[in-house]
Amino acid sequence: MKNSIKTFVVVMLLLVISSCNKQEPEYVIGVSQCSQDIWREKQNAELRMGAYIQGNVDLHFTSAHDSDERQVQQIDSLIKTGIDLLIVAPNQVKTISPAIDRAFEHGIPVIVFERKTDTKKYTAFISADNHEMGRTMGEYIAHQLNGKGRILEIKGLKDSSPAIERHNGFIEAVSKYPQLQLVASLQGDWTEQSAYDAVKNYQGDLSNIDFVFGQNDRMAMGARKALSTLNARLSTKFCGIDGLPGKEGGIQLVRDSLLDASYIYPTHGDQIIQLALDILEKKPYKKENMLMSALVTRDNAYVLQMESEEIMRQSAYLDQLHEKADNYMMELDTQRAITILMEVIIFIITISAIIIITNMRRRHRLERQAFSMVVNSPLTPQPSDISPQTSDTTPQASEPRPQITEVTPEEIEQIEGDADARFLELLRQHVQEQIGNSDFGVEELAAQMGVSRVQLYRKVKQQTGRTPVDIIRLSRLNRSKILLQTTDLSVSEIAYQVGFTAPSYFTKCFKDEFGILPGDIKKN
Ligand code: FRU
Repeated sequence: MKNSIKTFVVVMLLLVISSCNKQEPEYVIGVSQCSQDIWREKQNAELRMGAYIQGNVDLHFTSAHDSDERQVQQIDSLIKTGIDLLIVAPNQVKTISPAIDRAFEHGIPVIVFERKTDTKKYTAFISADNHEMGRTMGEYIAHQLNGKGRILEIKGLKDSSPAIERHNGFIEAVSKYPQLQLVASLQGDWTEQSAYDAVKNYQGDLSNIDFVFGQNDRMAMGARKALSTLNARLSTKFCGIDGLPGKEGGIQLVRDSLLDASYIYPTHGDQIIQLALDILEKKPYKKENMLMSALVTRDNAYVLQMESEEIMRQSAYLDQLHEKADNYMMELDTQRAITILMEVIIFIITISAIIIITNMRRRHRLERQAFSMVVNSPLTPQPSDISPQTSDTTPQASEPRPQITEVTPEEIEQIEGDADARFLELLRQHVQEQIGNSDFGVEELAAQMGVSRVQLYRKVKQQTGRTPVDIIRLSRLNRSKILLQTTDLSVSEIAYQVGFTAPSYFTKCFKDEFGILPGDIKKN
């Protein structure tokens, strides 16, 4: 019984715990970002938004902070956690490929975005056209300078695909203008500081630079800061790529005339999530996906900023709503857990109460059986035969009397089965033998049973629920009842025969026990 209660409690607790758990997402998607900056933050926010909208996706973000080794490690551990799909922007073309291959070989679909690898082991690729961006910026500069002037390029991280492609596109455009002089292509690593350092450390002539092309806005600004410390010409213009919205974004920099132009490098996290779900849900999808982008100049910066700020405002609102919904869900989960816990507690209390009551009843029954066995000689007629008849002439019992229950052979067998039963049988025999002996009391009974008075009391009480005195008295009274019914002896004679010394006291005890006078039984 105890074990089944334990099992039940464990099952209920598991139920409570499982009910507290949020609904499991259908898909877990790993996002391996190569860097951490405002462009990546915007994209991550969009990825999250896309996941909210889809509702069945859990995103695991990692950022390698521009470290190849870290990105490889992070991808490997994402594989280990058992993701359903990997979205990855590889830091450099070659270095991350082995990890990407491993994911793909594990059967994990891979979306490479924005930066390329040299492996073909990916499911889909999504990005804007970096070559086209570099080419457009080259054309833009050439146009602004009427095909003539000194230009400087600051390149992004060496061996990262956007740096290579933007450079190639840029060179393709400017090389068409013989009077455009590319003074230098300095090496940066996408950070503002790298461009600043590259310019500061450049040994060549950086005087009279007409236009600086930073491969992203941050590097264009780094070059601007460095050149301003070198007494560069005030008329030098700067342009970059990314065209992010927000205070420090390229659009604002163009509006503030700190940059002459930028190019929107689309983040489109939501579109990436959509592509991921199409792949996971086996819907049709394109392997190579090109994102549209646009040049940002003073002419359109304001409109673009308004648009993107509106989008950002709505995303922030959606984010807030989602957070609220999450909180409500958590509250709901807690409430549900409390309710289930209460139900479990009530259930346990009910079960315990049932067990206790059942045990008490069983114990009571056994006591009654034991008692009945002791006080009724098996040789005497059945107790039911001698219960008082209800007739007009028969005095009614003032209170319900304890019924002397019939002891079935199975029950006797059950009782006899243990040592207690043997004790009871001995008790019965001694009491029945001495029923006529008025000197026979608890003292004598204990001596005959070979136990102390206290032991006798404890044992008899425990097994019959009655005291030894009760047992002796009731045995006498039961015998008297039989004699009253089966013999012609007078009440006084019977009183003496069952060990009472005074007939009046016998009559009182008889009335107390059976609710009728002994004389009334005789009449019947
Ligand atoms: C963001 C970023 C952008 C740049 C792109 C190139 O991490 O550095 O500024 O355009 O990556 O991959």
